[in-house]
Amino acid sequence: MDGNNIRFIIKRQPTPQSTPHWEEFDLQWRHGMNVIIALRDIAENPVDRFGKVTTPVAYDSNCLEEICGSCAIRINGRAAMACSALVDKLEHPIRLEPLSRFPVVRDLVVDRGVLFENLKLIKAWVPLDGTYDLGAGPRIDPGTQEQMYPLSRCISCCLCLEVCPQVTESTRFVGAAIINQVRLFNEHPAGKTLKDERLHAMMGDGGIHECAYAQNCVQICPKNIPLTTSISIVYGQTMKKVLKDLVQSPETVTEGEVGHRRGVKNGS
Ligand code: SF4
Ligand code: SF4
Ligand code: FES
Repeated sequence: MDGNNIRFIIKRQPTPQSTPHWEEFDLQWRHGMNVIIALRDIAENPVDRFGKVTTPVAYDSNCLEEICGSCAIRINGRAAMACSALVDKLEHPIRLEPLSRFPVVRDLVVDRGVLFENLKLIKAWVPLDGTYDLGAGPRIDPGTQEQMYPLSRCISCCLCLEVCPQVTESTRFVGAAIINQVRLFNEHPAGKTLKDERLHAMMGDGGIHECAYAQNCVQICPKNIPLTTSISIVYGQTMKKVLKDLVQSPETVTEGEVGHRRGVKNGS
């Protein structure tokens, strides 16, 4: 920080295929400024610190209050939500990069589609549709509601995937957010009708056995979701299902299939 100026060093990549480069911007400090405000300032006046006119930095954001989950990036080398990252609390100069475990679309925007594909694979929903009226769903007692609420706070930001040592180019590990959704929908009185299918998916390539229990996920989650508890519970459910399948019909036990690959590696 120089006087009232804050320096930002930002990784730029105009297309998924192009080689990344760095650009530096000096911005006027403002009270309560966060990283998204800084990126907006650059978009209004895309001129680097040497006076060269450039393009606005592409980034994702929407709610500006840690609800939509879209603004996850790397700030000074650490995965974080840009909308709640106050510049006064960061080391200067401030270095911004896209998440490293996902393909870059442009600048700070990455394609996190793998999370949504994996949500489909584990059937992260309550089955409601049918060709006839299914009637009112089962009542959920307050105790179950209390247990489920913290699990339902996931904002799909993918920070837990970004810091997980098991999420790499060579694995298909689904990560803590997906495992937590398995627990959430398995606890729902109507959602549990698909419990066996979810646990079957958890048994396969990319499934729960690939978690090394490093616990980085639970430490970074901006919604304080008890991710390691979810992992332990779903692990127990999956083991029970394996044993049940073995006892009932050993010849039909097959591995499930879960875990889309994350696509191309970012440039560096
Ligand atoms: S406990 Fe560790 S290995 Fe398992 S999902 Fe969390 S960060 Fe990844
Ligand atoms: S579990 Fe937490 S860190 Fe992971 S995607 Fe959901 S909100 Fe983000
Ligand atoms: S802008 Fe929605 S979480 Fe940051």
